[in-house]
Amino acid sequence: MKHYVLLFCDPGIDDAMAMMLAIMHPQIELVGIVTSYGNVTKEQSIINADYILKVAGITDVPVIPAAFRSFSEFDEEAYPEIHGSAGLGSIIPPNHFPGNRVGFDTIRSILLTYKQNLTIIELGRMTALAKAFNLFENEFRYIKNVIVMGGAFFMPGNRTPIAEANIYGDSVSAKFIFNYLNTIITPLNITSQAMFTPALMQRLASHPKFGKTIQALLSVYTAYYKENQPHLPGPPIHDIVPLLVMVQPSLSTYVYRDVDVITNGKAKGMTMIDLRTMSEEGRHKIAWTVNADRLLHEYERAMFTGYADE
Ligand code: BDR
Ligand code: CA
Repeated sequence: MKHYVLLFCDPGIDDAMAMMLAIMHPQIELVGIVTSYGNVTKEQSIINADYILKVAGITDVPVIPAAFRSFSEFDEEAYPEIHGSAGLGSIIPPNHFPGNRVGFDTIRSILLTYKQNLTIIELGRMTALAKAFNLFENEFRYIKNVIVMGGAFFMPGNRTPIAEANIYGDSVSAKFIFNYLNTIITPLNITSQAMFTPALMQRLASHPKFGKTIQALLSVYTAYYKENQPHLPGPPIHDIVPLLVMVQPSLSTYVYRDVDVITNGKAKGMTMIDLRTMSEEGRHKIAWTVNADRLLHEYERAMFTGYADE
């Protein structure tokens, strides 16, 4: 089965890795990229999305420039220490590609074209997604799924002691989305369980299309994690997880709950669910446990599909 994907992202190293997976995966067709501030500025995110498409030799996937600021976190800054000075590790992409840039209303056309075949995957702050849903609510009714990388349930966050970065970055937009849309969530709980280990990175570095790019991306990401979280075998793979779980839901187990987001005070960005024994099921399908070995196996398999030395 083919999955038609409209990717909302903020590339960013793991977002760029997810783009490359979407391009390589035989069961995924990337139909558009909506790109916003987050790991990098909005302007840089556009250049970076264009760059990855250019490396892939793709000219027909539209890039939709979207949000430049959060609706609720006005001091949100880029993260060059994690993602590199331009957000792509050691790569400084030239900023003069023509690119296939189109207007925000293209999201509406994509929703109408693909309808029940369309999956939206959100890998960043939900500002642009909230804006699109607020504008095109009727068109959203027909689509298949919205899958979100974000949130941290009953575990430490990565942006604050209790908040995950994507949700913290625009907690109001996240609250809005979780209030009105059914989603599938791949939270930090599972996206931080698989890493780019040195052995995996070595194999990826030999990738015929993206090897050099991946090497340059992951060198900076790895150095950051080595210094700041030396107990980990490598940097976490966060943003590739929703794509893999979309294609193979059995990689994960799930709980179904309503999700609330705290939008102010010390707990800002915290994602809350009720898991008490008497609590009821809710509207979101939350990936709860993951088979990390199988996940990485499927990742590598998809990346190398179609190459003789697979
Ligand atoms: C998320 O935050 C961003 O830095 C990553 O790209 C990922 O989407 C992980 O919390
Ligand atoms: Ca991201």
